Amino acid sequence: MMLQGRISRRDVLRAALISGAALAVPGRALAELCQETPHQEEGPFYLNAYDRTRPMPHNNDLTVATGATGLPEGQIIDVTGRVTDEECRPVKGAMVEVWQANARGRYRHVADPNPAPLDPNFLGFGETITDENGMYSFKTIKPGAYPVGGGWVRPPHVHFKVHGGMFHMMFTQMYFAGEEHNRNDFLLNEIAKDERKRLIIEPSRRPGSYTANLYVFNIALQPFRPRT
Ligand SMILES: [Fe+2]
Repeated sequence: MMLQGRISRRDVLRAALISGAALAVPGRALAELCQETPHQEEGPFYLNAYDRTRPMPHNNDLTVATGATGLPEGQIIDVTGRVTDEECRPVKGAMVEVWQANARGRYRHVADPNPAPLDPNFLGFGETITDENGMYSFKTIKPGAYPVGGGWVRPPHVHFKVHGGMFHMMFTQMYFAGEEHNRNDFLLNEIAKDERKRLIIEPSRRPGSYTANLYVFNIALQPFRPRT
């Protein structure tokens, strides 16, 4: 069952405004706003629908896990945004999947060699469907950095897979502004500086809300085009 968690409709709409993704933006500015989101590697820790270790049930709230005894370790955050085409038109009914490490940098995946402990209260995987305005939202925690080897430390990030309709499947990663390991991350450095900026997100602070930080990450997909 797809649950919408505790993120209200009002919060999501406000997030869309914060993001600047209002459809009223005209012309060239609009085209730049909705340039295709830079791709990033899928990585080794995605769990597909046929993987028996994929946590069930799952939805858009990664802070609720079967058998949990409390909240997960780490800072609870909301991640929300709009999925659009390259002309900023909302993509309704797109599947948005996310997966990420827990607060100690460990994935809920048997292949993760990181000796850091699993968090039984953290699901680590979520999925949702965009609404009629192309909006999605997740409640999760800010992930930890983790070592990859050879001195490379991956900065905190959330993996995204987005697919649906007449659009190319998108694998990408959302990063957190101000993280020390962003600077030397090999995957971030594979893309141009202006593209990097579109994946590194500043928090929108919401004092007084149940969670302090909201991250607005809009995703633009590339449509399939007929061969000419
Ligand atoms: Fe990762």
